[in-house]
Amino acid sequence: MNCRTFIEQQVQELRRTVGQHTAINALSGGVDSSVVTLLGHRALGDRLRTVFIDNAIMREGDPQQVVKAFARLGVPVELVDARREFLSALKGLTDPEEKRHAITHTFYSTVFGKLVKKSGAKFLLHGTILTDIEETVAGIKRQHNILAQLGINPVKEYGYQVLEPLKTLRKDGVRKVAAALGLPQTIARRIPFPGPALAARIVGEVTPKRLDVVRAATTVVEKELGSTGAFQYFAVLLNDYATGIRNNRREFGQIIVVRCINSKDARTATVTRLPWAKLERISRQITSIPGVNRCLYDLTPKPPATVEYV
Ligand code: XMP
Repeated sequence: MNCRTFIEQQVQELRRTVGQHTAINALSGGVDSSVVTLLGHRALGDRLRTVFIDNAIMREGDPQQVVKAFARLGVPVELVDARREFLSALKGLTDPEEKRHAITHTFYSTVFGKLVKKSGAKFLLHGTILTDIEETVAGIKRQHNILAQLGINPVKEYGYQVLEPLKTLRKDGVRKVAAALGLPQTIARRIPFPGPALAARIVGEVTPKRLDVVRAATTVVEKELGSTGAFQYFAVLLNDYATGIRNNRREFGQIIVVRCINSKDARTATVTRLPWAKLERISRQITSIPGVNRCLYDLTPKPPATVEYV
């Protein structure tokens, strides 16, 4: 793929399709939505409105950092606080597909749908990539960002048309386009983070307390493994308790799994052989998080496992 040609074609295509209308997009700070944001701004300028929806399930400091990074690129991003809506939609849900559905529905219908209607935008730009489409069509998982492929007509159901300029690319292609667009390395090289965010890393119910635990563990893992060059690394909170000892007393503590994988495009993955000392450092920090007394390292490749747990 020639990145320059790709960028030029997509910019022209967006201009042609959107015409004199306005478009809107939600930026998560991941490389996919970041590339879409820049392509959209190149094509449409201020006829593209970009929002960052704080859904309560992002990593530590994510919303503010993303807004700042794009301000530096000259792209204004509105921060929308929708934490309450997402948390109440997720309340009581434990089934992985129900959780994903609740997030999709809250995102497209409740929060974003309202924003789009108010904004009058006729088009929604979305960072769907080829792998998302393939895995959704194959029935492996309901991806957060697939509508038409699931037989949902967004115009009828949500009142807007979805444009997916990255749908022919895989992650490695998106990163090349990101670099060609001049996105900083911190974004172009940013590890993938799923649409359902930390909810994909909490087995069982997503509650504010459980989010705090997985968020703290995620910060440790990202800090410790940032220099490994691995494709993706993160923490998962299991829905179980294990016996442990703290301050000479028996306690039932929570269990965190650390996952670190090598992959080219997330379709298959192998487990990264981390140095033992590194794993021990991570384990020590994770078991210092209040209420957590076990830390496990996941040795499962994809397949048979998927990357995420939910
Ligand atoms: P799985 O868990 O399906 O993940 O093996 C493959 C890659 O996709 C990411 N992922 C998602 N990305 N929306 C996204 O934008 C989603 O719903 C979603 N689910 C998984 C995952 O982090 C991995 O990189």
